[in-house]
Order: sequence, then structure tokens, then C-alpha cells
Amino acid sequence: MSHSSNTSPKRFLHPAGAPVAPSRLYGQRIMMRPLVAHDFEAWSEVRLRNVDWLTVWEPRRSDFLADPATDRDAFERRCVARDRERQNGSAYTLGLFVNNLLVGEVNINNVVRGAMQTGTIGYWIDRKHAGNGYVAEGVATIMKFAFDDLNLHRLEVCIIPRNTNSKRVAEKLGLRLEGLAERFLEINGVWEDHLRYAITSEEWHERRDALTHQWLTTKK
Ligand SMILES: CC(C)(COP(=O)(O)OP(=O)(O)OC[C@H]1O[C@@H](n2cnc3c(N)ncnc32)[C@H](O)[C@@H]1OP(=O)(O)O)[C@@H](O)C(=O)NCCC(=O)NCCS
Repeated sequence: MSHSSNTSPKRFLHPAGAPVAPSRLYGQRIMMRPLVAHDFEAWSEVRLRNVDWLTVWEPRRSDFLADPATDRDAFERRCVARDRERQNGSAYTLGLFVNNLLVGEVNINNVVRGAMQTGTIGYWIDRKHAGNGYVAEGVATIMKFAFDDLNLHRLEVCIIPRNTNSKRVAEKLGLRLEGLAERFLEINGVWEDHLRYAITSEEWHERRDALTHQWLTTKK
């Protein structure tokens, strides 16, 4: 029996061998990339300075887990865990940078394939840099990646009704309000109701040019 590779059918690449995310994504003013071990000092500085600003909108960290903002090893483990998620396609967490300075994060979590093809967007920004529309720009950038490169069908953002700043982000991007999910997520130790905003790929394709022009194309 011949083992000549000339007669073998062409083999397709296993998805694990394909790029799971470009190393960098760009908006008009922002750049996004996975965080790496040497980002620890910047991460620590921005997270510790913003504890009060962020804690009330985030899941509570277990007392039994080291804080990646104060523990370098815990930060490195966090980077490795996020790399793994990108590799297996379950989540895409990217640092948000303005002028090469780490100012926040934008992520797609809870990626579900199969019949659903969906993901949940999350984000935060340094209070010092809030109010410049950077997060909306980051969300538009990651939406383009999710629909055009990952071929997801639906993205959602889930927001506590009293988080007016975050609701403004969803409104600026024209996300569709689907309704209120009661006791939806644990935030700061409490089961909080969340408004669910969504966009599907049908809407993305209709609005892609306008959103790209507004948030992604560099203005002269
Ligand atoms: C929600 C959040 C990510 C918005 O990011 P952002 O880049 O500041 O968004 P925008 O620039 O579009 O501002 C949104 C609204 O925040 C308010 N805002 C602006 N500057 C602000 C500041 N310096 N301090 C407080 N609020 C401010 C304004 O009402 C603004 O709406 P407007 O542009 O119509 O006036 C940011 O407020 C944040 O990180 N909050 C804490 C964490 C959080 O809530 N995460 C989201 C959980 S769903």
C-alpha cells in the first residue's frame, strides 16, 4: 500500500491551529490586545486606583482567591486563563489602550456555539478616562471582530438599570433593548436585575457601514 502524500486528500487545519484572535484590534483612537505578564504594574495601578468606581458593578471576588491587582502570580494566572479561553473560543478578553496606556478592558464572555452562536460583552474603564466614548469605540471594535471574524450571530450587553453610564454606551451604539432579566447576575454579592441589550448579525450587516464610519474609521 502506498503511503505517498501525493495521493492523500488535502488535510484542513484543525481550528486550534488557526489564529484565535488578531494580536491587536483598532478603533479610531483605541487599540485592544490581550494582556500579558508585563502589564502587571499598569493593571495594578489602574485597578487599585479605581476600586470604588468598579467594585459596585462587578461580581465579588472570593476572599479565598488572590487579587490579581496586588499579586503578580495571580495576575499571570489570570493572563494564562484568558489565553486558554481565547484558544478554546469560549471568551475573548482584551485590554483597552489609549496612547499605549492601559485604561480598561472590553471582553466577549460566555461564547456559545451550536444553535445559538452568541456572546456577552462586558467592559470597564478608568474613571480618569471616562466620558470620552472610548468604551463604545471598544465595543464597536469587538462587535466587528465577533460578527466578521468569529461569525457569531448575536451579542448582548447586560446592564443593571441604575447603571446610567453603561446604558448610555448601549444607547450610543443603538443596541436593541430586549427587556429586564430579574435576579440575572451576581454583582457585588447581590443577585441583580439586568436590562438585556442585543444586536444580531442581521442588524450588524445593516448598520456595519454607519457604525464603522462612526467608531472605527480614522478621521482625517
Ligand atoms: C460604563 C462605562 C464603561 C462607560 O464608559 P465610558 O467610556 O465613560 O462611556 P462614555 O464616554 O460613552 O460615557 C457614558 C456616560 O457616562 C457619563 N460620564 C461621562 N464622563 C463621566 C465621568 N468622568 N464620571 C462619571 N460619569 C461620566 C455620562 O453620562 C456619559 O454619557 P454622555 O456621553 O451621554 O454624557 C464606565 O462608566 C465604567 O467603567 N463604569 C464602571 C464599570 C461599569 O459600570 N461597567 C459596566 C458594567 S455593565
